[in-house]
Amino acid sequence: MTTSPQSSGSIRFVLNGSPVDLPVRPDTTALDAIRNHLGLKGTKEGCAEGDCGACTVLLRRGDGPRMAANACIMTAAQLDGAELTTVEGLKTDNVLTPVQEAMASNGSSQCGFCTPGIVMALTGLLEKTSDPDEEVIHDTLAGNLCRCTGYRPIVEAAKTAAKADRPEQAAPELPGCQPEIEFGGSVLHQPATLDEFTDLRAQYHDAVILAGGTDLGVARADYHSDWDRIISTRHVRELRMIETGSDAWTFGAAVTWDEILQAVGADYPSLAVLIRRFGSTQIRAMGTVGGNIGTASPIGDGPPALIALGASITLASKARGARTLPLEDFFLDYRKTELADDEVIAAVTLPRPKDGEAFRVYKLSKRYDQDISTVCGAFWVSMDDGKVAACRLAFGGMAAIPKRAKASENKLLGTSLESGSATEAGQALSEDFDPLSDWRGSAAYRSRSAASLLQRFARDLAGETVEVMAL
Ligand SMILES: Cc1cc2nc3c(=O)[nH]c(=O)nc-3n(C[C@H](O)[C@H](O)[C@H](O)COP(=O)(O)OP(=O)(O)OC[C@H]3O[C@@H](n4cnc5c(N)ncnc54)[C@H](O)[C@@H]3O)c2cc1C
Ligand code: FES
Ligand code: FES
Repeated sequence: MTTSPQSSGSIRFVLNGSPVDLPVRPDTTALDAIRNHLGLKGTKEGCAEGDCGACTVLLRRGDGPRMAANACIMTAAQLDGAELTTVEGLKTDNVLTPVQEAMASNGSSQCGFCTPGIVMALTGLLEKTSDPDEEVIHDTLAGNLCRCTGYRPIVEAAKTAAKADRPEQAAPELPGCQPEIEFGGSVLHQPATLDEFTDLRAQYHDAVILAGGTDLGVARADYHSDWDRIISTRHVRELRMIETGSDAWTFGAAVTWDEILQAVGADYPSLAVLIRRFGSTQIRAMGTVGGNIGTASPIGDGPPALIALGASITLASKARGARTLPLEDFFLDYRKTELADDEVIAAVTLPRPKDGEAFRVYKLSKRYDQDISTVCGAFWVSMDDGKVAACRLAFGGMAAIPKRAKASENKLLGTSLESGSATEAGQALSEDFDPLSDWRGSAAYRSRSAASLLQRFARDLAGETVEVMAL
């Protein structure tokens, strides 16, 4: 394996306030690095796949605030140039922080296994929001499982800590990310521009393209795979940009779901509800739009909503430059996409809402929080003189790819979108889809619930309140 003269053998970051040079393979999990290489055992391992929150740490990248993230699905590569805080780094001069004090005084810890992760998640919350309401506290805890307390004392601890004086945390100077790191046969490239990124992609077709790592980290844990060459998207300037135009937003592929929520939440409230149900605080802070599309899961939540909203995707390669296509044309077959060997996902463009348009997205899953969809229905219509002039109905969980329901759309066009036309459109779904049965839901369940989501859409737009379980 060859490495350039810029190669450095260690990951450089700030750990609990002090600079650290850690010589580990970049594909080592951050949790392994913390517990076994740095000897800090307060960060726990529960599920090892981003679900339980026992491994929650705080990460600061660039100028932003510290944010909660799951160390088990993060790699050491993602620590380079960042500030990492573990539970050992919270207390100063042996004085507990307000969150630790409140957890102790409210009886919020029993067996204690979840406690460090919960302390970190609540600390991250109170650095972003000084006075969170109960809903925000519950949202924050969606990614932290506690089997003992029933959560009430933890929520009380969050409220108590929110009222306490919290000293300002001075952000330390960060070391800056290194263009290339090699250790133990694993090479990490951290390109700074799209041109550098496509150049590396052209040279190394088999390299792992690492964005937030929330899908890759789980796959790596499941299959125990080693990554000998990684190209990180995190520092690619163009991929981190959000452009707000009068007609559309353009999100670089490495923009996180948290950042998308901030950008579009007010204009697309239904999309905001979907994004708030996307994994957990920890997952939304790391997971990116490019990663969600790149995974090409038939049950990913982003694609149906983005397809219904008429989003397009821009792909880029060194040899052929950029090309833009409707997002719906990106998905070809199960986990097969338009992306060529030498191409990367550069950006996603999302139209802004216009007068006469309506959009809703509904996610059906076994649990409200921290669960992937069984069926996701995303519906956009443009009305003219009380009639449907244009529509896009897109579903996840109904086929091998996220897909539009063209036969169903044809039934809606020209109607006034009342209950009767929604029923006919729902019946036409059998021409569009032949869903499979799996442990998330049977084919019959999927077909029936997809049709009833269309009913719900019609009733929502008519202003009727519909009670639907688990929506
Ligand atoms: C606990 C948990 C809960 C989750 N909940 C949800 C949920 O509710 N809904 C949902 O839809 N998903 C969910 N996910 C899946 C995951 O968080 C999302 O798919 C996320 O958006 C992936 O983004 P990432 O940046 O982490 O991708 P990564 O894991 O870094 O990458 C995913 C794939 O995309 C490729 N890729 C990334 N960027 C590019 C690029 N620029 N060009 C080319 N290829 C690229 C990677 O090579 C890889 O194949 C969950 C995951 C976990 C662990
Ligand atoms: S160990 Fe469960 S989320 Fe990391
Ligand atoms: S206190 Fe035991 S799991 Fe939370």
